[in-house]
Amino acid sequence: MKNILVTGGAGFIGSNFVRYLLEGNPDCRVINLDLLTYAGNLANLEAVQNHPRYHFVKGGICDRNLVDDLFCSYYIDTVVNFAAESHVDRSIAEPEVFLTTNIIGTQALLDIAKKYWKVHPDDKYSREFIPGVKFLQVSTDEVYGALGETGMFIETTPLAPNSPYSASKASADMIVRAYYETFGLPVNITRCSNNYGPYQFPEKLIPLMINNCQCDKSLPVYGDGRQVRDWLHVKDHCAAVYNVLAKGVAGEVYNIGGNNEKANIEIVRLILQAMGKDESLITHVQDRPGHDRRYAIDNTKITTQLGWQPSYTFEQGIAETISWYLQNSDWMKQVTSGEYCKYYDRMYTMEEKELSCQGSE
Ligand code: NAD
Ligand code: DAU
Repeated sequence: MKNILVTGGAGFIGSNFVRYLLEGNPDCRVINLDLLTYAGNLANLEAVQNHPRYHFVKGGICDRNLVDDLFCSYYIDTVVNFAAESHVDRSIAEPEVFLTTNIIGTQALLDIAKKYWKVHPDDKYSREFIPGVKFLQVSTDEVYGALGETGMFIETTPLAPNSPYSASKASADMIVRAYYETFGLPVNITRCSNNYGPYQFPEKLIPLMINNCQCDKSLPVYGDGRQVRDWLHVKDHCAAVYNVLAKGVAGEVYNIGGNNEKANIEIVRLILQAMGKDESLITHVQDRPGHDRRYAIDNTKITTQLGWQPSYTFEQGIAETISWYLQNSDWMKQVTSGEYCKYYDRMYTMEEKELSCQGSE
């Protein structure tokens, strides 16, 4: 049986992945290490909280003593590192914690994995690791920077991150790569495009727009709304990560994407239409500084080499996602109370940011 340390397992993708493992794969035990920042929520895991093969530990990936204890107590043989500060806008406002969690935290995990998994820990020239161990770093397409009208990111596209968030993720990727090149630690890096689906914190585009629509609040579209993202259902991302865990070749990077490019304004209009609301709710606000214009993932490597394919069409996925948020209004109420209101006011001071007569649409 595999003993999988999932970090950040109380966040959006991590919690979907924990459920994916426990509901679908009988042959693993899941240890979820999460600091429960504003983005971590144990309500995301109510369905599995009493599962006999699930263990939750509150704590941070920078806490080396705690991570060391977990490796020792649970015989960890697999790490899937989702833990991160993940929101670009927050990284613009307060970059430091992004560097601490996303870079230093990743390096702490790598060090401890190396300590427990290396067959001859005192031999600096040995590259022998216990068979079957793996460190999977969950990264992002944002490390590649921005595309123009054409082209797609492949795994060898040079890294050119533009935000403090993406720079911290790119740095972590480089450290992970270095542990493979220098020590031979069996690693994979996955770089996925934008995820959507249940349990996403409403600081991100889709749940924020659904919630605002539901509350008849204005929908803050940055700039002209023509920025393009390549959307993938979170369950397809989870299946892809599992595929890389099971079949990925050590040292390799795998892009993950849904071949589903959409401009932000299209998504916003689609949500308005699905919820029966009027386009007058759209408000164009000042653009995000350094806003990447377009992302698009070429997923040829993972589809041809590992046999993964996305299963959701966007039409099906977004319809299910909107229904999920409407049916789970208590979840939304819980995460949008308290601190969220302060965050929202800080981030979206409409009177100042609203563009007069934008006219870009
Ligand atoms: P999220 O913000 O919803 O969740 C992050 C989780 O990490 C939270 O539960 C939080 O409490 C936890 N965390 C934060 N700091 C921690 C620390 N120091 N120690 C332990 N736990 C900590 O993020 P998400 O959207 O689920 O993203 C998960 C991962 O996937 C991130 O690494 C992100 O970079 C990557 N990613 C996200 C997307 C996307 O569209 N959301 C796409 C590609 C890659
Ligand atoms: O591409 C993968 C990345 O996708 C992940 O690595 C990040 O963790 C994740 O947050 C996401 O980053 P984005 O910046 O693309 O996602 P976000 O939901 O913040 O924004 C999506 C697009 O919508 C982006 O072009 C900015 C725009 N936007 C966003 C918000 C929150 C708006 O126009 N208005 C908004 O209020």
